[in-house]
Amino acid sequence: MKITIAIDGYSSTGKSTVAKQLADWLEYIYVDTGAMYRAVTLYAMREGLISDGFFDKESLIKKLDEVEITFVKNSSTGKADVCLNGENVESYIRTLEVSSFVSPIATVSEVRAKLVEQQQRMGEAKGIVMDGRDIGTVVFPNAELKIFMTASAEERAKRRYNELLERGDAVTYESVLSNVIERDTIDTTREDSPLVKAADAIEIDNTETNVEDQFHTILQLAKDRI
Ligand code: C5P
Repeated sequence: MKITIAIDGYSSTGKSTVAKQLADWLEYIYVDTGAMYRAVTLYAMREGLISDGFFDKESLIKKLDEVEITFVKNSSTGKADVCLNGENVESYIRTLEVSSFVSPIATVSEVRAKLVEQQQRMGEAKGIVMDGRDIGTVVFPNAELKIFMTASAEERAKRRYNELLERGDAVTYESVLSNVIERDTIDTTREDSPLVKAADAIEIDNTETNVEDQFHTILQLAKDRI
């Protein structure tokens, strides 16, 4: 039997790493929903809808029909890259600039409704691992396995900072830490689909756990449900 696996949690808790490992092992589809919100944010930036730290919500809502988010398999990484209106934008969506606007944009109900509907369609046949903020609560409330991942803000910022440095981005640890904390605040306090642990989710704090041990723990939980 194929199941649905929902992985939610705070920013930079390593959700996508473990989700991808699980999907590869189980031969399931993996969907990174954060990439979808990031691609919409990139669209808003390119359309000039963001300036001086504010975004033009009404214009974004009006233009949403022009936004098409898809995924394409990257043959060198084996991952699914996100596309915005047919263009592979994977290398533009992880910057600190996109990270600083994505959470406000993800508060817009019209944006969420559009992406949630697409996510639910992708999961119709089960056999899917999806990570995000509202997967176990809103997108797939009946998922057979729900994981809620946490780690200290400092540890998460350290991980994200190292990732950005590796990409050659000129950022400071302090700016990454404040972005992580700000996104947590917006994501947990927004009105529409805030980040909360689903009542039936299993919480995993990986501040001190290594990636390998965590993968085996979650894989066992999945196997128990298949
Ligand atoms: O997962 P990632 O950190 O790339 O997500 C970027 C942002 O997109 C989150 O901080 C959150 O504001 C938003 N998001 C969301 N719902 C999801 C996935 C991401 O609101 N399911």
